[in-house]
This record gives sequence, structure tokens and C-alpha cells, in this order.
Amino acid sequence: MSHSESKARVVVTRRNFPEVIAELEPVFSLDHNADDTLWSPAELRARAANAQALYVVASDKVDGALLDAAPGLKMVATGSVGTNHIDLEACRARGIAVTNTPDVLSEATADMAWTLLMAAARRVTESERWLRAGLWQRWAWDQFLGQDVFGSTLGIIGMGRIGSAIARRARGFGMQIVYTNRSPAANELELGASRVELSELLRSADYVMLVLPYSPASHHLIGAAELATMKSSAVLINIARGGIVDDVALALALKKGQIAAAGLDVYEGEPALHLGLLECDNIVMTPHIGSATRSSRVGMAMLAAQNLLAWQRGEALLTPVH
Ligand code: DGY
Repeated sequence: MSHSESKARVVVTRRNFPEVIAELEPVFSLDHNADDTLWSPAELRARAANAQALYVVASDKVDGALLDAAPGLKMVATGSVGTNHIDLEACRARGIAVTNTPDVLSEATADMAWTLLMAAARRVTESERWLRAGLWQRWAWDQFLGQDVFGSTLGIIGMGRIGSAIARRARGFGMQIVYTNRSPAANELELGASRVELSELLRSADYVMLVLPYSPASHHLIGAAELATMKSSAVLINIARGGIVDDVALALALKKGQIAAAGLDVYEGEPALHLGLLECDNIVMTPHIGSATRSSRVGMAMLAAQNLLAWQRGEALLTPVH
């Protein structure tokens, strides 16, 4: 067996940072998608067929069909904190280890949540489009009136690491914080946050921030019925996952003025978008870049690589999902 054949084979599904590949290259036999070609599920299955590990991202579906096609698979490292793209049960049943990338992205993602909140509240992208279109002729009292942020109420759905980081920033804006979470947050006193029922949060919050994982239980958690209970001045921000919001219902609610605005970084079925959303001027939209600062993304990519290296050395995984 040649030296390269004795190395574990790792499929790296997306173009990765050179410094991360440099860590992996001496140790593994890499199938690195360096030119970022869009691999179909069939292509990924073919490449995984003789792999021992997969280095995936949140847009790669790791389902039973992929696992069946990769009988030698021992490890899946995802460069994301979210794991809803991975069939964890199927991995567990096959003894395949799974790691994700918590913590390293929390502050950057909280910053982005606030970026969307502020931009949606103060109609930043809508007024910029108008200005760039050459429509600005004079100042007017009622031009692009938005929502107050300071002193308002922030409702956080999902008070994990990122939710807590968002809440810490809210204190500087003198906000009241209400939240929902499976269990009370250990830091709720420090955050000055009160745990309430979802219905109360939706009724009382000026800003509704989604920061919970996607699962069958959170599918369309915010739909027509929930949007109807929110304030007409409310702003909805989704920094979590597409599918938690019913995008069709959201576009209708925004068009009807049922709520004031939305800030979205994630979409059901992304990168495809529900056209109704694109028709709404009162949405600030970004393309799933919540964690996209250089240090955060390199940190995530490197953490996934370190997990692979720990697995290869037979050491404890740094951030195991199970
Ligand atoms: C995550 O880490 O889950 C982000 O959504 C990036 O994919």
C-alpha cells in the first residue's frame, strides 16, 4: 500500500481556506472540491463511496442514502453549528461520529442579528435603493419613518449561546427582554431576561428574533396564525434556519401591513427564494451570512479540521454532537 493509500480518505465538499487545507493535507488523502463545483447528491454519494470521513457544510444533506453509499464512513465534521442537515439518528446507528462548530461563530452571528434588526427597523436598505435610483429630491418630515429600537421589547426565541449574545447587546439599548426556550436560561438574571410563553412573546415583542435550531418541531413555528398575533409595528428577524418561518405567510403579512418589517438571513429551500419575499420592500435580505466574518468563518473551518485531526489521532473530539 502506498503512503497516500494508507491515509484516511476525507471528502471536503466545499472550497476551504488554504490554511485549513494546509492542516489537513499532510494527514489525509483529501478529495477537496477546490473549485467549488456544485456536486449533486449522486456525485457526493459517488465521492463518499470509499471515504472514511466527510467534511461538510450546512447545505450538504447527510441522509440515509449518502450513509448507505459510504459503508466505510466513520466521521462527519460539519463546518456549522446547525446539524439539521445531518441524519443524526442514522449516524448514531452506524457508529459514525459527528462534530459541529459551536461558540466560534456566536458573537459574529449576534452582530449580524443586530445588523438585520437595525437595518429593518430603520429601513436602511429600502431607503438606499430609493436614493440610488435617483429619487431623492428633498428632505421631508415623514420620509422613511421607521421603528424605535432604544427602550423597546426584544423577544428571543431560543436562548442558547447566540440568543444570549444577542440579549447581552440588547441591554445597551435599554430593551426589555423576553424569551422562550425549552428550559430556563442559566444566565437569565444576568441578561435581565424573562421566560414567557410563545404567545405572550409574539404579542408583546417589538422585535421577534429567531435563534432556535430547525427541527420537525420548529417547522413553520411562525406562520399566518402567529404573525396575526404580532404588533403591526413589529419586526421579525430570522438568523436561524429557513423553514422555521412560513415564507409564504410572511410575505403576505408584510404586504398586508400585519407586521412592519423583517430581516432575513435564511430561507425555506435556500438558495431558492419565495418570490413574494422579493416583492416586499420592507424586508432586509442577506444570503445566509450570519457567521461570515473572516475570523469566525476561519475559526469554524479550523475547528471542523481540528475535529478531523483529533479523530484521526484517536483522541477525544473537540466538539462532538454525539
Ligand atoms: C451554522 O453554523 O449553522 C450557520 O448557519 C452556517 O452554516
